[in-house]
Amino acid sequence: MKQLIELSVNGETYELAVEPQATLLEVLRNDLGLTGTKEACGTGECGSCTVLIDGRPVLSCLTLALDCTGQDIVTIEGLAEGERMSPVQQAFQDCGAIQCGFCTPGMVLSATALLEENSRPTEEEIRKALEGHLCRCTGYNKIIEAVNKAAGQMAARQK
Ligand code: FES
Ligand code: FES
Repeated sequence: MKQLIELSVNGETYELAVEPQATLLEVLRNDLGLTGTKEACGTGECGSCTVLIDGRPVLSCLTLALDCTGQDIVTIEGLAEGERMSPVQQAFQDCGAIQCGFCTPGMVLSATALLEENSRPTEEEIRKALEGHLCRCTGYNKIIEAVNKAAGQMAARQK
C-alpha cells in the first residue's frame, strides 16, 4: 500500500504517495520527472544514479524513497543557477569530458561534493572520489581534467 512522504528536492518540497519498495531513483524519474538522474545497472555498480543527500553522494537505485523524508536531495537539475551552469558542469563541457553523457550527472554530483569539502584535491583524491563511477566512453582523463579545472575556477572565485 502506498505511503505519503514529503521529499525535499532541489529546494522544492513535494508530497507524494509512494510504494514502500520504491527507490529514490524511481520516484525522481517517474514521479517527479527528474530524468537527469540515470539508471544503468540498477544494482549499485556504476554510479550513474548518484544524487546528493545532505551534501553526500548516494546511489539512488539502492535508496528507498521512504528513507529520504527530511533529507535535502540535490539532483543534476539542481546545480545550475538559472541559465548558468555550475563550475563543475561548465568544466565538463569545456574539457570535452562528456561523450554519451550517461555517466555525467553522477560524476558531476560526486565531483561537486568533493570540491565542497576539498577545494584543491590532488589527482589521486579526484580519482578516489570518482572511483565508484563507470564511464564507457571517455577513458576518464578528461573527467579528471575537468574536475581539476573546476577546482581552480572555484578557488579563483573565492579569492
Ligand atoms: S544505476 Fe545505481 S549504481 Fe548503477
Ligand atoms: S560519457 Fe558515456 S559513459 Fe561516460
